[in-house]
Amino acid sequence: MKPISAPKIPKYLKHPAFGSKEIRDLFLIDKTITFLNNGSFGATPKVILAFQNAIRERMEQQPVNFVKKQLPILLRESLNDIAPFIGADANDLVFVDNATTGMNAVIQSLMHSWKKGDEILTTNHVYGAVRTTLQHAMNISGARLIEAHVPFPIIDEQECIDAVIGKLKKSTRLLVIDHITSPTGIIFPIKDIIRACKKRNIPVLVDGAHAPGMIPLNLNELGADWYTGNCHKWLYAPKGCAILWTHPKHQRMMHPTVISHWYNQGYSKEFDWTGTKDHSAYIASPLGLKFHAAMDSDYLMMAFHAKAIAMRNMIAEAWKTNAPSPDYMIGSLASIEAPKHLQYDGEDAFLYAEALHDILWNEHKIEIPVIPFAGKIWIRISVQVFNRLKEYMHLAEVVPTIKRSHVLKMLKRLKS
Ligand SMILES: Cc1ncc(COP(=O)(O)O)c(C=O)c1O
Repeated sequence: MKPISAPKIPKYLKHPAFGSKEIRDLFLIDKTITFLNNGSFGATPKVILAFQNAIRERMEQQPVNFVKKQLPILLRESLNDIAPFIGADANDLVFVDNATTGMNAVIQSLMHSWKKGDEILTTNHVYGAVRTTLQHAMNISGARLIEAHVPFPIIDEQECIDAVIGKLKKSTRLLVIDHITSPTGIIFPIKDIIRACKKRNIPVLVDGAHAPGMIPLNLNELGADWYTGNCHKWLYAPKGCAILWTHPKHQRMMHPTVISHWYNQGYSKEFDWTGTKDHSAYIASPLGLKFHAAMDSDYLMMAFHAKAIAMRNMIAEAWKTNAPSPDYMIGSLASIEAPKHLQYDGEDAFLYAEALHDILWNEHKIEIPVIPFAGKIWIRISVQVFNRLKEYMHLAEVVPTIKRSHVLKMLKRLKS
């Protein structure tokens, strides 16, 4: 098989100057906007997209030969490239389209063994789509979903450990825990929590949607039973690329969300083919990792952390609020309490948050998530290499000028 030639990663990437013109030019992000939301869907560098296109063109030259003969090899080669970066054995990894699919695959594979009287434990920080997936599984199995209350603002990791461990019971069949939380942007101390679960024989499914590329990972050492993480958020892969890691002892009972020809013929084989689709994001993902490595991955992840703390603190000071978590629980996301006059705790807080989001976007060209959580309105910043200091300063200045009455008017419009 003739290799698909990959474009060259620029040489000047090592220890990048965040927000410099040469770094911003590597991405398609609109230069006229304030884009502070890498966290939702990631941003793929042009060079990776060009490679993805080359993969698609190769497929279209001889689709049948590509799909039947080349694809299985290319998928395994890509996983071999990614495995060492996340401390995994490639045989324990499969590609899925996104973390939602990874979480669904595990929950759907397990739910038929649950019954009335069983409990499935998660936390109040769980991602919305994972909560609904669990609710669906509860409706089918008759098991009960329990949410441990992890406080936010949070003082230290122990508060999280105590909240989760305090809810483990004899009837707990599974713990579903985030590695990095979506609404609150904090890193949970999952290693300690997994250890406690192991002592009680309770399996653990980790939602690591944000982890690959944001924080160092070693899945072999972590001790989880399942772990899913996106490559399209922080690892520069094209959209629609995530990994699912399964401990060897569980691989036989695992099935993808879509059953195809290779039912019960092995973990890799079943997941590698779930019907005709575009696999180019998977095959392009090792180049995303190369892009990350060219910046010096360890340096990059430390720089994300340092900048997220600095920007969070600067904004929190401008909005007269406090940092809601210790620095060591932050990666490249940080949620900041909105100024007092923009706080809202009504039943329609989700719509109110959307109204504030829409004002920031429509009137100020700032793209940022606004999130209702635990009775408060939070604004979550992301740090990515293309972001400039002036974008965070713009956010810090604009938000306090927005009148509550304006948000309430927008809320009314959204409701009508
Ligand atoms: C914690 C968490 N889990 C799951 C997801 C879903 O990711 P995806 O849309 O790629 O499936 C997200 C997305 O932001 C997330 O933050």
